[in-house]
Amino acid sequence: MTKIFIVGGTGHIGGAVLDAICTTYPEVELTALVRDEQKANRLVSKYPYVIPVIGGLNSLELLKSASESADIVINAGPDITHDAGIAAIIKGLENRSEKGYYIHTSGGALIWDEPDGSKPGTKIWDDVADIDEITSMPEYRTHRQTDKLVFAASPNVNVAIVSPTILYGLGPSIEHPVPLTIPEILNTVGRISGGFMVSAGKNLQSYVHVVDLARLYLLLVSYAIDGKESVAGMDLWGPKAYYFGADEEVGFADFMAALVSVLRKKGMVSNEEITPINVADAAKAHAGANAEHAPSLDSWSMHIAMMYGTDMRVCSTRGKNIGWQPQEPAVRETLEEVVERYLAEKKGRPSTV
Ligand SMILES: NC(=O)c1ccc[n+]([C@@H]2O[C@H](COP(=O)([O-])OP(=O)(O)OC[C@H]3O[C@@H](n4cnc5c(N)ncnc54)[C@H](OP(=O)(O)O)[C@@H]3O)[C@@H](O)[C@H]2O)c1
Repeated sequence: MTKIFIVGGTGHIGGAVLDAICTTYPEVELTALVRDEQKANRLVSKYPYVIPVIGGLNSLELLKSASESADIVINAGPDITHDAGIAAIIKGLENRSEKGYYIHTSGGALIWDEPDGSKPGTKIWDDVADIDEITSMPEYRTHRQTDKLVFAASPNVNVAIVSPTILYGLGPSIEHPVPLTIPEILNTVGRISGGFMVSAGKNLQSYVHVVDLARLYLLLVSYAIDGKESVAGMDLWGPKAYYFGADEEVGFADFMAALVSVLRKKGMVSNEEITPINVADAAKAHAGANAEHAPSLDSWSMHIAMMYGTDMRVCSTRGKNIGWQPQEPAVRETLEEVVERYLAEKKGRPSTV
């Protein structure tokens, strides 16, 4: 029986991956790292065959032993600042007698450009055509340090990196059904009292529906279970196995127009105007709206503000070549249900929008 160990299985991405595996491979032994007992109980009540282990990305011995016991490890938890945990996963997989599989989650912030918004960026990053540049970026680029650590393990472990762009849509996760960017954007909207964009909001960004992204992980899992090394002449694993998870491209101003239309319908903003702001103001608005981060401008607020203004134009050629086909509804079609779910979850908490 195949054994899979998943980190981040309660998350927006990981929850969709876990759900896809449970549905497609009910016979697999699936162990999930969960951060506390309550979440473990909720997870098992929905997926009775999942085996929870309590711990975090700093539980190094646990990560190592659970990974050593697994044929396939999927990490859909955060990568940044968690290199020690990721190294422990790799160490565990390296200890196996048979070469194991590690499917790691990185992110499209690797290729963000200067946040501008006055005109659309022209560079479209392709995970096949641009793979040499993608895998030799300097370490100060977001995600690069950990990508390097993962690829360095490729002689001993079958590694693949999935690099999502902006997630959208409702996911099956019990804990995080709403994409993590939505509360951030809504908090900023609340602070600015309406729609906003950096400069003219012409920056273009790739999006991926969480359920479609989970299909990419599932495809890799199915190839790992079958022991496949390549598809259509393309190596599935190894130091070039970098898969952008991207589908629809939307300009930030168009995204915001669709969002404020939903927000006005819900009585959350009074009009559909979109105010041009600069990145520093966006960061200040984000920091001020976010109790956890207020009142100082920290790197998370800067990261989010940069996300509002950056281009992130990406082509998932590698995934498409191995058979991945996104099929979920477009970004705009999902916004209303996502906002409704966000509001339902937020009930009882102080209003920021
Ligand atoms: N969402 C995006 O738009 C996006 C885009 C590109 C890349 N990514 C990458 O994908 C990762 C996951 O994204 P997501 O949207 O699924 O985030 P999410 O919904 O916040 O889920 C994160 C998952 O990781 C777990 N986790 C967080 N910190 C942990 C720790 N210290 N130890 C163990 N587990 C921990 C969370 O557990 P709890 O349930 O206990 O919180 C949850 O299961 C992000 O961190 C980012 O690196 C995301």
